[in-house]
Amino acid sequence: MVVIESLDQDGRGIAHADGKVVFIEGALTGERVTYSSYRKKPSYELARVDKILRQSFMRVQPKCVHFDMCGGCSMQHLDARAQVAVKQRILEDNLQRIGKVKAERILPPIYGETWGYRQRARLSVRHVLKKDKTLVGFHEKNSRYVADMQHCEILPSKIARLLPLLAQMNESLSIRDQLPQIELAVGEHVDVLVLRILQALSPADEVIIKKFADTHQVQFWLQTKGPETVVPFYPLDAPALNYSLPEFGITMPYAPTDFTQVNSTMNRLMMSRAMRLLAPQPGERIADFFCGLGNFTLPIARSGAQVMGVEGSATLVKRAAQNAAYNGLTANTSFSAMNLFEMTEEELAKLGRFDKWLVDPPRDGAMELVKSLGADAPKRIVYVSCNPATLARDAEVLVHLKGYTLKAAGVMNMFPHTSHVESIAWFERE
Ligand SMILES: C[S@@+](CC[C@H](N)C(=O)[O-])C[C@H]1O[C@@H](n2cnc3c(N)ncnc32)[C@H](O)[C@@H]1O
Repeated sequence: MVVIESLDQDGRGIAHADGKVVFIEGALTGERVTYSSYRKKPSYELARVDKILRQSFMRVQPKCVHFDMCGGCSMQHLDARAQVAVKQRILEDNLQRIGKVKAERILPPIYGETWGYRQRARLSVRHVLKKDKTLVGFHEKNSRYVADMQHCEILPSKIARLLPLLAQMNESLSIRDQLPQIELAVGEHVDVLVLRILQALSPADEVIIKKFADTHQVQFWLQTKGPETVVPFYPLDAPALNYSLPEFGITMPYAPTDFTQVNSTMNRLMMSRAMRLLAPQPGERIADFFCGLGNFTLPIARSGAQVMGVEGSATLVKRAAQNAAYNGLTANTSFSAMNLFEMTEEELAKLGRFDKWLVDPPRDGAMELVKSLGADAPKRIVYVSCNPATLARDAEVLVHLKGYTLKAAGVMNMFPHTSHVESIAWFERE
């Protein structure tokens, strides 16, 4: 029996027993539990909860019937507001422990819808011989197996209802063993499903897929190899895939395999917050590093500032430039493809002087970029992060080596019921 002291980054309860740390799935802070270990190492154990002897008042009944088995969510058993509090504590702990920094101000968390929010998802498809059926869904917890799910509470309800029907459709295809993945992109005017196919469709398969699209009002795209091979399949006259940022008068067309934020409501709220913190002004020169398809670049450009978007994917750089043109923002935007993990002081200097930076890296963070800051560094950096550990690591460089102050930081609940922590931090150099 142990008492849970806190939750870790993956939503597991942390306790101590026999001189070891024990990470217990399904247990919440303050709970007294018994557990069974499934991995034992010299300094720690991984375990699952057996019995809850004293229950947390924050515990709630998971909405999804597949919660115990599906790896798509890990925190549905914790009240949604308490999840945000946990994420905020994880952010503050990381900043303090890894970065040895403390924000002058903690920003109030940003919340959105907690159900049906996930407009992007990669669903696995497996025809399981032993069960003689197809499974479509996320992976099971800690497993490579596809979860046997009939429904999903975090996908938009229309798409969630299609999961068993997509499984049935796959059963009737000649290539049912050659279709490992369905990627979902819910736009404002069209719901796109990308079928990753390893073998060409037969004429009969085409008929089945077209009938499904007509019945359920979705558009299918096909992907034969890498993301660049994606092409619309049916119907070809569907509306374009896009999302909008009404506060900034911006519409973003995109391809279903492009990186876009998974939660469009939260994306709008995040954009408002980022623009308030960055406060771009006409006449300023601003960099948007890891710009993707221009999600931050174009709102910044709307202010009248000159913006350079820098991004590793040539496809996204091209899309960002097209989107700037689509929104009438070519005059004050430019884009460049560059591997930002290999940034050096010389390469950064070649980009010229910037007044401000917006940085939105992948989970690995932006270490080489922040290490490359020289004497001409911007006065303000707004850093959007999907990994508090790398944010904290980069914050240490910014604050302790590069002379910035961490003015504010806060969490944004981009991925409710999962352990992902999205956050934003504002650094200022006097
Ligand atoms: C978290 S996404 C942010 C994208 C964009 N800011 C948005 O909000 O849609 C991170 C971006 O970093 C890009 N990226 C990943 N590794 C990179 C690298 N080594 N150099 C430059 N960009 C990279 C990805 O292609 C992706 O577009």
